Amino acid sequence: MTIVIGFPDSKSLAKKIAKQIKAKYSELEIKKFPDNETYIRFKINVKGKDVVFVQSLNNPNEKIMNLIFANETAKDLGAKRIILVAPYLAYMRQDKRFKPGECISSNILGKLLKFDKIITIDPHLHRHKNLKKVFSHAVSLSSNKLIADYIKKNLKSSLIIGPDSESYQWAEEIAKYVKSHAIILKKVRFTSKKVKIKVKNNLSLKNKDVVIVDDIISTGHTMIEAAKQAKKLKAKNVYCIAVHGLNIENAFIKLKKLGVKKIVTTNTIASKNGLIDITKLIAKELI
Ligand code: R5P
Repeated sequence: MTIVIGFPDSKSLAKKIAKQIKAKYSELEIKKFPDNETYIRFKINVKGKDVVFVQSLNNPNEKIMNLIFANETAKDLGAKRIILVAPYLAYMRQDKRFKPGECISSNILGKLLKFDKIITIDPHLHRHKNLKKVFSHAVSLSSNKLIADYIKKNLKSSLIIGPDSESYQWAEEIAKYVKSHAIILKKVRFTSKKVKIKVKNNLSLKNKDVVIVDDIISTGHTMIEAAKQAKKLKAKNVYCIAVHGLNIENAFIKLKKLGVKKIVTTNTIASKNGLIDITKLIAKELI
């Protein structure tokens, strides 16, 4: 028997997954002591059961602590197998020591989250070519097909644009599915809030509908700069689609104000822009 447990911010996705795989759904009692220490209690008997934790790791620090406590407690209570579904996996962009003395956070997270299996969607793999290098029992699923289906159904897109070199992983495959082609732009990042996007001199987007696709919209600066370039090149309609909508500092609103027609993400992180549902993708991996 499988029990799906929904963690803060991921409860609605967890309920959908439980329904899809016909599992029991439960939540933990999570409280704070007056000194801010965390209290965790299982409300359901997990002895001998397969337990699936669903927790997307946006705003990750407290969530990571909860997961470590819950994982150890479930083991202690005799759970048979403990699986973490983390549709958005945090710290993956800090995958190297950029400056001397820095913490390579992705690798440390891999040491802290020791589950029987970890399932995630489109983790940011740049310098780590394979998720298994970070998390030994991890499965990485791709939402490219779901994004392409959304584009085919809802947007009359002629062109897919990837805003930086890493985005080819999404842009090229999505373009293939929607029978279009992908243009990959060049990004230079100065700080976490300052990027510059370069386009080739002879590129024209005149009268074209373009969909800019990326894995993450965080502060939105990558999408904003790419959308500005698309507009400068006279694109007719500009759409932005990302797998994970972190939406820091009102990124979605800023994009809208710029004239982006639609900003859509998957529902790895809950928001009203999360129109592309990944429930079935995860359910298939759990059955
Ligand atoms: C990094 O290269 C990622 O693929 C995204 O492009 C990046 O995380 C987006 O961040 P922001 O929205 O803050 O520009």
